[in-house]
Amino acid sequence: MKAAVMRANNAPLEIEDIAIDSPGPGEVLVKTAACGICHSDLTVLEGGLPVPPPCVLGHEPAGIVEEVGSGVSGFAPGDHVIGCLTAWCGVCRFCTEGRPYLCLDQFLGRPEGAAARLSGGGEPIGQFANLSSFAEKILCPERSLVKIRDDMPLDRAALIGCGVTTGLGAALNTVNIPAGASVVIIGLGGVGLSALQGARITGAGKIIAVDTQEWKFELARGLGATDCINASDTEPISAVHDLTGGGADFVFECIGLVPTVQQAVAMTGRGGTTVLVGVVPMTEMVQVSAADLTLQEKKITGSFMGSNRFRFDMPKYIEFYLSGRLALDELVSSRIKLEEVNDAFEHMRKGEVARQVIVFD
Ligand code: APR
Ligand code: ZN
Ligand code: ZN
Repeated sequence: MKAAVMRANNAPLEIEDIAIDSPGPGEVLVKTAACGICHSDLTVLEGGLPVPPPCVLGHEPAGIVEEVGSGVSGFAPGDHVIGCLTAWCGVCRFCTEGRPYLCLDQFLGRPEGAAARLSGGGEPIGQFANLSSFAEKILCPERSLVKIRDDMPLDRAALIGCGVTTGLGAALNTVNIPAGASVVIIGLGGVGLSALQGARITGAGKIIAVDTQEWKFELARGLGATDCINASDTEPISAVHDLTGGGADFVFECIGLVPTVQQAVAMTGRGGTTVLVGVVPMTEMVQVSAADLTLQEKKITGSFMGSNRFRFDMPKYIEFYLSGRLALDELVSSRIKLEEVNDAFEHMRKGEVARQVIVFD
């Protein structure tokens, strides 16, 4: 099958014909219909997350089950599915408590000594997030999948696999936004625009969108932003304080940069909550005023993958979409071929796109 292989960091992905094994126990073979391109794929390619090459990237897929391995009970050929990178064991303390995204035993690889799921020229090729969906097929654990309605368009279902779940879940699961609360979203990529929609769905009052790309604001307003701040020509902290009368109730940082994390904390008002959705590179530390947190009772929380229980959340998000309460069509900037994946990373680097989706025939 055709796949985009990361042979080295900071080099273009190579389009190669590679081998994919048959499903082993508990595994499912999926024909990829579509795969969104997420900033975390680029972060891996740039060496910001430790995933060794050779490896097939891609972790935001939807597709159709082709074959199932022994012991698979929840899926059958023909099922429409979304793949999710959240690995959960089902029995640890966090899984049983209802927070599988914090699972203590996230290994879903094959047992030691088993053949690799992917290989090229007889050499094993690594999988990313058990999915590796920049490829015509995905061989993954049953636990990485959720079954969805057949009438859901698969190119939009794919977005729910990572970006939408990360952003929407940050607003709907990680924190409790009361109706009327003021919310700031910093960074209007696929993740931020989904957090923005989560805020709208909860009935937030002011929803302030911050980005440096002017073209994003029309999109953001269409999705529910009440105010927009272009951080490239306006100092965003005082602008938020002016709009909210002293700081917002909730601020979502959806980029993962040190300066925007600091801005997020500074934009948060008394008793408010800063939600860190973007992943700051592990090599960097962020300075914030501890006194500010104490004296103003500000809270900072991380939000990992939208605090998801994806088999519960994703079908719900699809209902939101099909009933017109969640916009996904607007998030798709372009549909591309697998061969165009390197150009897509360039567009992402320049902030020219919301979500780009690879579609397969
Ligand atoms: N101030 C405001 N906005 C900025 C700034 C800045 N200093 N720098 C970049 N941005 C905007 C970009 O213009 C873009 O609209 O942030 C947005 C980031 O969007 P994408 O690159 O599409 O990223 P996305 O896929 O949404 O993921 C965001 O979430 O999953 C985490 O850490 C992961 O980096 C990822 C982040
Ligand atoms: Zn992602
Ligand atoms: Zn677990």
